[in-house]
Amino acid sequence: MNHIVEAIGNTPLVKLNNVTDGIKGTILAKVEYFNPGNSVKDRMALKMIEDAEKAGLLKPGGTIIEGTSGNTGMGLALAAIAKGYKCIFTMSDKQSKEKQDILRAVGAEVIVCPTNVAPDDPRSYYSVARKLNQEIPNSIYPNQYDNPSNSAAHYETTGPELWQQTEGKITHYAAGVGTGGTICGTAKYLKEQNPNIVTVGLDTYGSVFKKYKETGIFDENEIYPYKTEGIGEDILPKNVNFDLIDLFIKVSDKDAALMTRRLAKEEGLFVGWSCGSAVYGALEYAKEHLKEDDTMVIVLPDHGTRYLGKIYNDDWMREQGWL
Ligand SMILES: Cc1ncc(COP(=O)(O)O)c(C=O)c1O
Repeated sequence: MNHIVEAIGNTPLVKLNNVTDGIKGTILAKVEYFNPGNSVKDRMALKMIEDAEKAGLLKPGGTIIEGTSGNTGMGLALAAIAKGYKCIFTMSDKQSKEKQDILRAVGAEVIVCPTNVAPDDPRSYYSVARKLNQEIPNSIYPNQYDNPSNSAAHYETTGPELWQQTEGKITHYAAGVGTGGTICGTAKYLKEQNPNIVTVGLDTYGSVFKKYKETGIFDENEIYPYKTEGIGEDILPKNVNFDLIDLFIKVSDKDAALMTRRLAKEEGLFVGWSCGSAVYGALEYAKEHLKEDDTMVIVLPDHGTRYLGKIYNDDWMREQGWL
């Protein structure tokens, strides 16, 4: 390969064997930590940059500014190295310290912002990113939440990969929902191949998605702090197309953390926290609805190294009262 970004995509699909006790049908995990930035977000980061270049929005020597929970930043940083851009990332202070250090290691400037402020508060990581974009000449703010290149990356890569890897046998598709790019881009492709495929979105307690899907109401009472990183939102990103997500299941921080640790110990999959959310929630659905011949794919977005100080740290787990 000419550059590490060419290694993005074509990640393996791996059968889950031990956490699936009592479930009919086949459960497969799309293991996205095989991407060079160790997460699913490499796919859309590269596409957002390439589409911005094609549209003439990003010019040589430019600066990429983004609000990120870490993984998108990593993908953008790799793309920026390949193409010679600078990166400035804003991140909320609830994200792992590891994620900040990793982004600095690949040459990005990182600005940490408070988590518990409203999205339109000038201190929020969304607002700080927007302001920097206005102030810094020749900068772009890809805005992964509303940028259609995000979903398009998954429509073009993740969807076709799953269709080919399962030889068209996929019947259910489950993924955590943050910006919505992963689930909706992939689901759009899969439902075009087979409209009967069911898509399950995993949400957190403290997020607006599930209630919005079920009632059409954006309920501010649903919003409160939670600890799981990367999924659930206090906004409705344009990349979330509710017509493509058949149902949402909420998973608690604790259930997600414990399932993530089981994936490492029982499946050999040393994955990130939202992977536990995805598997816990998807298996809840699978227990009730999956039949013998069904094939469910669950997306595992990132790698366990980013959570060594949290869910893989027994002291931290005990402090939460989770061990
Ligand atoms: C760890 C992790 N899990 C899940 C997601 C959700 O993916 P998406 O933004 O495509 O909905 C993200 C996105 O940032 C993430 O970083």
